[in-house]
Amino acid sequence: MRTQVGIVGAGPAGLLLSHLLALRGVDSIVVETRSRAYCEARQRAGVLEAGSAAVLRAAGLGGRLDREGLEHGGIYLQFAGQRRRIDFRGLAGGAAVTVYAQTEVVKDLIAARLAAHAAIEFEVSDTEVADLDTDRPVLRYTDRGGVRHEARCDVIAGCDGFHGICRAAIPDRLLTVYETSYPYAWLGILAGVPPSTDELIYCHHADGFALHSMRGPQISRLYLQVVPDEDIADWPDERIWAELSKRFALPGWELKEGPVLDKGITPMRSFVSAPMRYGRLFLAGDAAHIVPPTGAKGLNLAIADVAVLAGALASMLKGGRTELARAYSDTCLNRVWRATHFSWWMTTMLHSTPGAGPMERQLQLSALRYVTTSRAAATTLAENYVGYPPLQAAAGPAPS
Ligand code: FAD
Ligand code: PHB
Repeated sequence: MRTQVGIVGAGPAGLLLSHLLALRGVDSIVVETRSRAYCEARQRAGVLEAGSAAVLRAAGLGGRLDREGLEHGGIYLQFAGQRRRIDFRGLAGGAAVTVYAQTEVVKDLIAARLAAHAAIEFEVSDTEVADLDTDRPVLRYTDRGGVRHEARCDVIAGCDGFHGICRAAIPDRLLTVYETSYPYAWLGILAGVPPSTDELIYCHHADGFALHSMRGPQISRLYLQVVPDEDIADWPDERIWAELSKRFALPGWELKEGPVLDKGITPMRSFVSAPMRYGRLFLAGDAAHIVPPTGAKGLNLAIADVAVLAGALASMLKGGRTELARAYSDTCLNRVWRATHFSWWMTTMLHSTPGAGPMERQLQLSALRYVTTSRAAATTLAENYVGYPPLQAAAGPAPS
């Protein structure tokens, strides 16, 4: 088998890359270990930066996003018995974010790829990448029927998430890994109840952080800070609602409760592996970097990486020009480090660190008062949350 780009992973990064490449006349194959149903149902991120939404629209994927996505011009920060709004539109040049779940982005992408008769193989096993330092790298996998395949490619894109095989195929001596983990995790629920708020609430509380997000007019998404090794079995629905109500409590405001449709625990880490390229292997999304979800950046970074990568690969494979491909890692890492810092800052400002004393708590409260009263500080939050540096959407054919 022969293809131009062999893509490992059908998460947002791999699917969008394959779509953007097709728009530029570059063919690809996507291989994925999980089933289509699993990929479409996996509950994860929910917020698209303005630039991410623009990339999706420019690629012809804006239909349901524009009909069902909820545009939000700000967020609330809650702490010390008060709820203060950060006005993105007023502070960040009119920009807004769109609340549109990763599950929906993935469904739209899979539908678009299959409608275009793209090659996506779900439920593969034993994925292997080899000959990465040659100009004919190879992608091998076993399909769901047990048949082994080998695809000779021009390039391999490692879009296989944090636990994938592609990053591990780069010799250790060529990689620098930066990593920190946090002494807490998030317990997330999806609930069949209308949101109790018009915009997201990020809540600092002595007992731990809480976040109120949403998926639509009838579905809420809520998170609670818990300990990293928390056992979900210890959290029956009543305990989750009681804890959420306590952390979000505000006079005159009530948290609406409803049936819990899904629940899970997400560990928190910051991780960057550099560079994002080795020979003909390019890493994108969680395969190269992880941020804690407090800044709502993981999905947006994956989209930004592949927006850059699609242009670079089209220029290399169709135009024979390698400058963009050579610049790929540095171009992406600039945004990755900005998002890594922002996510770390939001996380450490809003969570309560087990064992931390009153000094840390006062510093957090001071930071929260500052960011909600100083226009300069609020602008920093707004500019980063809506996406910095602003992502330029470019679909269509490669420059010749
Ligand atoms: P992924 O979505 O991880 O996709 C990688 C794909 O590769 C997967 O489908 C995987 O099955 C496949 N794969 C792996 N190994 C192989 C192999 N060997 N062969 C073939 N396929 C393979 N971000 C937020 O902003 N907010 C959140 O609330 C949030 N919650 C999250 C919860 C969890 C549990 C996780 C893991 C992440 C969360 N994130 C969140 C981060 C965000 O969802 C990710 O940044 C985003 O999914 C990255 O997309 P990706 O395509 O790079 O990777
Ligand atoms: C979500 O809706 O799942 C969500 C929103 C904002 C975040 C993290 C997750 O910061």
